[in-house]
Amino acid sequence: MARGAVLLLLAAAFAAALLPDAAESRILLTLHDFGAVGDGVADDTKALADAWTAACTAGDNVILNVPAGGTFQIWPLTLAGPCRSEIKLLISGDIVAPESPSDWGQGQRSQWLHFHKVQDLKITGGGIIDGRGQQWWAQSSLMRAQPAPKAVHFEDCQGISVKGITLQNSQSYHLTFTRSSDVEANYLRVTSPEDSIDTKGIHLVDSFNVHVMDNLISTGDDCVSIVGNCEDVRLRAISCGPGHGISIGTLGVNNSVDYVEKIKVDTLFISNAENGVRVRTTKSGGGGFARKVKFESIVMRNVTNPIIVDQGNSDHLPASSEAVAPAAATVVQVEKINYIDITGTSASKHAVTFSCSDAKPCRHLSLVNVNLSRVDGNKASSYCRKAFGRSIGTVIPESCLSKEDFVQHDVPQRSEEDREEDSDS
Ligand SMILES: *[C@@H]1O[C@H](CO)[C@@H](O)[C@H](O)[C@H]1NC(C)=O
Ligand SMILES: *[C@@H]1O[C@H](CO)[C@@H](O)[C@H](O)[C@H]1NC(C)=O
Ligand SMILES: *[C@@H]1O[C@H](CO)[C@@H](O)[C@H](O)[C@H]1NC(C)=O
Repeated sequence: MARGAVLLLLAAAFAAALLPDAAESRILLTLHDFGAVGDGVADDTKALADAWTAACTAGDNVILNVPAGGTFQIWPLTLAGPCRSEIKLLISGDIVAPESPSDWGQGQRSQWLHFHKVQDLKITGGGIIDGRGQQWWAQSSLMRAQPAPKAVHFEDCQGISVKGITLQNSQSYHLTFTRSSDVEANYLRVTSPEDSIDTKGIHLVDSFNVHVMDNLISTGDDCVSIVGNCEDVRLRAISCGPGHGISIGTLGVNNSVDYVEKIKVDTLFISNAENGVRVRTTKSGGGGFARKVKFESIVMRNVTNPIIVDQGNSDHLPASSEAVAPAAATVVQVEKINYIDITGTSASKHAVTFSCSDAKPCRHLSLVNVNLSRVDGNKASSYCRKAFGRSIGTVIPESCLSKEDFVQHDVPQRSEEDREEDSDS
């Protein structure tokens, strides 16, 4: 009876808050209906699996609630689609992973909560997804035998929104989208300790039309990383750090051909991080490009490499870790990267580093109103190798980009596409 009352209340609250068209019928499910215990000790995997199946096969729009006040321990699980209608997964309580890696089956170690081929899913509710990754990090620091699981992984999904929840202490990556599109990841709090190994915040692989906005991300590894073939990605209003900052790449790993383009990153605060905004490729091997990238309105505080392109060629940088194929003219091309209104402090001498490829120099880079000084008050400097482009407005430290007269005949005019991009900023 009490449950019925709660359901009614929930129905009323969410009909008002989330569902403008309240006259439509809704189905409201909670994990407790499927036998979940929610004491943080019991195994609630079957309850979640059964609840998902019920939600996925229901004909109406469904709300599946992970209730507040409960802590639900879930073993690695695939929640598969396609489903019959849109699902709202309302995570108000806590979902936790088994703590000991030995509790995970050998075949289950690549990911924890895996969404596969799901469409039109909205996750919200203010709750916490906690990977309890401490023992995985300890293992990773000893030996990289096997990568730790990705905590929440969407694969081959479309129309996904993840909003207003906390993801913490992931075994490795907190939130990953692979071959997915029409994605929003907003109002998230993503945290794990600075010294946790490989704990990326949000990781995008082969995905397009992705919006990542209004997030706090503080992890041991990259804040947001973009690899593979990604297009139309927007990152906005994100606080990053500590960790490794924003990363496009590493591209070209294992001779892959990667196309990353139309990436817009703006209104970021990046502090105490290893990198600010980085584009990274292997030194040789692979192909494709990273291009049409705009980094705009970014404040750095105590960031080791605030602006960096790293194609593995600089003597003062560690080489990209992947094997070097001999005499490879195949390299990922880096071009049309714009840095606009980037200010703040660098923890190292080189606030700006463009360390590009001999085989395919970086081209059409531009620095517009950049002002970076060293955190200790000294002057910062720029480092360039095979880097071509221009600087506009005040650029501190002084730009070391080479003029690109040699390619003038290639680009006499800006294309229609470029004009469009500029006008939508
Ligand atoms: C690269 O190839 C190696 C060996 O086949 C494999 O173990 C590794 O996972 C690959 N890396 C990526 C990023 O695909
Ligand atoms: C700069 O960041 C590092 C971590 O990257 C941190 O250890 C150090 O205390 C920070 N320094 C200042 C002045 O904030
Ligand atoms: C650059 O930043 C420094 C430190 O914030 C500031 O004092 C200086 O006025 C700025 N320079 C310009 C040209 O904006």
